[in-house]
Amino acid sequence: MKYLVALSLLFAVVGCRDSRKPGIEYAPQMYTSIPYEPYSQVAYNANTKDGRNVMMPVAGTVARGKEAYYYPYPATDEGYQAAGTELKNPLEPTAEVLAAGKKLYNVQCVHCHGEKGDGQGTLNTSKSYEGIVPDYKVRLPTINAGKAFHTITHGKGAMGAHAYALSPAERWQLVTYIYSLIADAPPAQAGAPAAAAEEKK
Ligand code: HEC
Repeated sequence: MKYLVALSLLFAVVGCRDSRKPGIEYAPQMYTSIPYEPYSQVAYNANTKDGRNVMMPVAGTVARGKEAYYYPYPATDEGYQAAGTELKNPLEPTAEVLAAGKKLYNVQCVHCHGEKGDGQGTLNTSKSYEGIVPDYKVRLPTINAGKAFHTITHGKGAMGAHAYALSPAERWQLVTYIYSLIADAPPAQAGAPAAAAEEKK
């Protein structure tokens, strides 16, 4: 018994000699998994290209169910113009779509753009936004649904990007809703409402 106690004391002292080394781990497979875990890894993985357990998706692949999140138009003027000509609003202005759009609008947009879309949101009283939020009645006929979608996605001027907070479907609901806010609105379908507005004059 005496020797046993002495021996374990010796181990205890010797075992803690270098505080920078973890010492011997008992049953390490209890702490680190033998199967490959995507988010925890203690050793280089010889079976993957970059040594990581979790591999990068193949270039150009789109995750299942995320097709709509693939947005090819960059946050540049070219991207804005291209979105304006190529994007089509997939939604019809049904009561359901408009109600969903209104709900989102009252959370994400109303403080700047105002309840009626006239640019008189509560933030308009602050110096930084005073006078720069457009009146939809004036602005929307000069752009189109694709451009509006692009602006909501990437932001424009003092308006921030909203892609992080709104799914593509929600952004289209908003586009449909804001076009419904202006009287004799050009249809919230893409195309060239600017030209349509021109014809009306
Ligand atoms: C922080 C204030 C702010 C918020 C929040 C905001 N906007 Fe804007 N929005 C602006 C400003 C400022 C502009 C003018 C940008 C410019 O043309 O420079 C603008 C412009 C727009 C335009 C015209 C875009 C164009 O291409 O000319 C649309 C459409 C629009 N906003 C929709 C929305 C919608 C929908 C939301 C809610 C998801 C939203 N905005 C939230 C400030 C805001």
